Amino acid sequence: MVSIFFLDEVDSTNQHLINLLESEKIEEGTAFACFHQTKGRGQKGNTWISEKGKSISYSIAIYPGYLSARNQFIIAQTVSLAIKSFLDEYTKDISIKWPNDTYWKDKKIAGTLIENRLKGDIIDYSVIGIGLNINQDLFPDILPNPVSLKQITGIEYDLKELVSKLHSKIKAALEELSHGTEVEIQRYYLNALYRRDGFHLYSDGNGTFEARIRGISAIGNLILEHEDGKLKDYAFKEITFI
Ligand code: BTN
Repeated sequence: MVSIFFLDEVDSTNQHLINLLESEKIEEGTAFACFHQTKGRGQKGNTWISEKGKSISYSIAIYPGYLSARNQFIIAQTVSLAIKSFLDEYTKDISIKWPNDTYWKDKKIAGTLIENRLKGDIIDYSVIGIGLNINQDLFPDILPNPVSLKQITGIEYDLKELVSKLHSKIKAALEELSHGTEVEIQRYYLNALYRRDGFHLYSDGNGTFEARIRGISAIGNLILEHEDGKLKDYAFKEITFI
């Protein structure tokens, strides 16, 4: 059975895995973890900052041949639920901020960057990268609302032990997905969403408004109901949670 490989230092665990995938055959489920990532990548072209020795950078490779590229958002949903299930064992109040941030109350404790190589409508490979704030006490001011597990619970954690548990959760969740549990995953995901209930503030290109979450579209867009009852769906870059 393939296990997880620990790297002392790396630019990006996602990039490391992508480099390997582009040059050799990698067994499905191969994962890398590192506690000193120097050029972590985030969503929307941002960088992911993590302090040396304090947090987990983890990436796993899968070949989801059973999914079409059109359905790729189910990978994000599956992984977000697995991260939530992992963190639920340490604290309450974990939710998923659409599309795939992990929140504790109103703060971000983990981020996920999924990089898929597509061939037409086929997902050739998927690299799932997760950054988890674990033992960090301080964060740079440029980060809007970060939090670490230690800040929540007051406990200092063994990073290697946590990585092993996270890896098991992720692998089990992806295994279930491969057995066709998409409908259940979509339902659990919707119920686990940050701001699942009630009206909240958002902004788009036209300004700020109040709306409530009504669902997720087939391609993973967020469907919001505005105060006048109209439904509108938003792609990732089209909307900001205020
Ligand atoms: C985000 O919230 O913007 C996504 C952050 C994803 C960070 C992880 S850390 C492990 C993996 N390697 C990377 O370079 N990025 C992801």
